[in-house]
Amino acid sequence: MSSTYIIVTKQDGYAIAQINRPDVLNALNMALMAELVDALETLDKDNDVRCIILTGNEKAFAAGADIKEMADASAMEMLLRDQFARWDRIRKIKKPIIAAVSGFALGGGCEVVMACDMVIASETARFGQPEINLGVMPGAGGTQRLTRAVGKVKAMEMVLTGRVISAEEALRYGLINKVVPIECYLEEAKSWAKEIASKPPVAVRLAKESVLKAFDTTMEGGLEFERKNFYLLFASDDQKEGMSAFNEKRTPGWKGK
Ligand code: CAA
Repeated sequence: MSSTYIIVTKQDGYAIAQINRPDVLNALNMALMAELVDALETLDKDNDVRCIILTGNEKAFAAGADIKEMADASAMEMLLRDQFARWDRIRKIKKPIIAAVSGFALGGGCEVVMACDMVIASETARFGQPEINLGVMPGAGGTQRLTRAVGKVKAMEMVLTGRVISAEEALRYGLINKVVPIECYLEEAKSWAKEIASKPPVAVRLAKESVLKAFDTTMEGGLEFERKNFYLLFASDDQKEGMSAFNEKRTPGWKGK
């Protein structure tokens, strides 16, 4: 199911979707984003896949939306094109997505990373929202997701100055989960994906949904949502199996239902 710009491979219960437009540091043009979203949605429906890794190459995860494609557009063209609306579909993917990032994750690249659920970075990874240097501002979630991830003052710093931060700094600010040497970032992401793929999938799905709910609801609404999902899991075979296995001191065998 690989396409022009996205290479998809599957193994051990997870899939890797690799952004492949290396000549332009994986700049995210509209065709690439259409393929990426299609690939993620296809993997979301694939029963062999329980976790997805999204990655680029060692030099770039993605250096942003394709500037050449946007440079001459009018406001009306941008509005009617509404190219970033497609990006919202990443947020609707039910399976966990781990971003494995090396090199540049800038502008739209950083915004795609933030639309993922967890982030493993190589020591060379660089994160930033440099759109201000182009006379614009983040347009695919940067002002909202970055602010929620790193807090107001750091988000203001990055968005208003365009300053790019290192992987270590991103780790310190809670933007990413882990930094590892460049030789290991994909292997580390694979090991996280394999671990998540070994968990009961329905519980994983509802847990992801519940954590994401925290971003767009009140505490009361979120707690209610969480509680209902918790109760709902008692309708799953995996809840019976997981608790029986604990009581019988054995390893559970998940059915995924
Ligand atoms: N769009 C289109 N092409 C891009 C690109 C982008 N975002 N980023 C890099 N490229 C292209 C360059 O034009 C260049 O192509 P050519 O060889 O044909 O000239 C190629 O990729 C290599 O880039 P550089 O020669 O610039 O490589 P470098 O190592 O000297 O610099 C860089 C790397 C600092 C990342 C630099 O390329 C850069 O600043 N890129 C733009 C980053 C940026 O501003 N991103 C935000 C885009 S707008 C956006 O994303 C809006 C949004 O909110 C969604």
